[in-house]
Amino acid sequence: MTTIPSDFPSPIPDRLQRTVEVLGEEIFYRFANGFTIKTERLGKQDPWQILPLGSPQGSLMNHVLNFPEIARDQHVFEPFAGAGPLGFAALKVGASHVDFLDINPRAVAFHQENARLNQVSLSRFTSITGDIADFRPEHRYNLILANPPFVPTPEEIEGTLTSNGGSEGSRLVEQLLERLDTFLKPSGKALIYVFQLVKGARPLIMERLPRILSNRPAENTPCLAQPSSIETYCEGYLALFPSFDTAIAQWRSRLSQQYGHDLALSHYVIDVGAKSDAPTSCVIRSNFAEKFGAKFFIAAGREGAIALERASENASLHR
Ligand SMILES: C[S@@+](CC[C@H](N)C(=O)[O-])C[C@H]1O[C@@H](n2cnc3c(N)ncnc32)[C@H](O)[C@@H]1O
Repeated sequence: MTTIPSDFPSPIPDRLQRTVEVLGEEIFYRFANGFTIKTERLGKQDPWQILPLGSPQGSLMNHVLNFPEIARDQHVFEPFAGAGPLGFAALKVGASHVDFLDINPRAVAFHQENARLNQVSLSRFTSITGDIADFRPEHRYNLILANPPFVPTPEEIEGTLTSNGGSEGSRLVEQLLERLDTFLKPSGKALIYVFQLVKGARPLIMERLPRILSNRPAENTPCLAQPSSIETYCEGYLALFPSFDTAIAQWRSRLSQQYGHDLALSHYVIDVGAKSDAPTSCVIRSNFAEKFGAKFFIAAGREGAIALERASENASLHR
């Protein structure tokens, strides 16, 4: 278990100081440095919904605001961009250009609106409607900031475009990682927020990273004090999708057969570094407060609520 006491002085501050204004179906997040991000409320009955912000975006945005040099004068890529919160944080600290990619054509209107709200010139970003599976960038990037659809989803449940990450939650994360050298300069790096099935204290992706990445280090930082139990997660699915009870039980049983019974779920940030001559290395490091700020760490006692929140993000349309 990773612990950060509630009175722990965070090594880096919360530079977001976010306030939230809900206006009908729209949400406006206003930040201390004067920028604003418009999204939509969760649960909108619309397959092209734009995701609201939570701890995943908060963690990565706070990292960018505390370590602006990672984005300043850099060419940045935000795949799975939605409203573009990570790319706009990068533009705010001086990124030279951001490419936003989303399969949802409605994301483009949110980039334009968020640019207008923040007086960001249209020449500083490009909005691309496309699929991560076949997107070919015109040039490679210095930095990738990503919050992909990462919710592990029983195969028979359709889930949502924003959240369904396939049976183990890694489908789109792995597509991004497998194509990383197509997107990144050799010196480039990537920060990717994920939700992972965990066996013992290790996320399943730890076994795959050495095969997927070539000659890049990967540091995995846990974002939750305590992994969520898979039982709570399955109960959440059952409450949301009662008619899929058999499918949920079969999914759970397939995972147990493949990985054993002691499975849980947790969030991590995967920090992929520059290419080198060294073989790919992959570590878990409990350094969340130093990199992302203690404010965005998910404290013990919240893991059950997080499991249910993630399951319900996948359920807007199909109950
Ligand atoms: C979890 S949301 C993240 C949105 C935004 N980056 C944020 O942090 O608020 C994931 C986004 O990925 C998009 N998406 C889903 N499948 C995709 C794919 N195959 N290629 C590109 N984008 C995809 C969805 O439309 C959604 O906007």
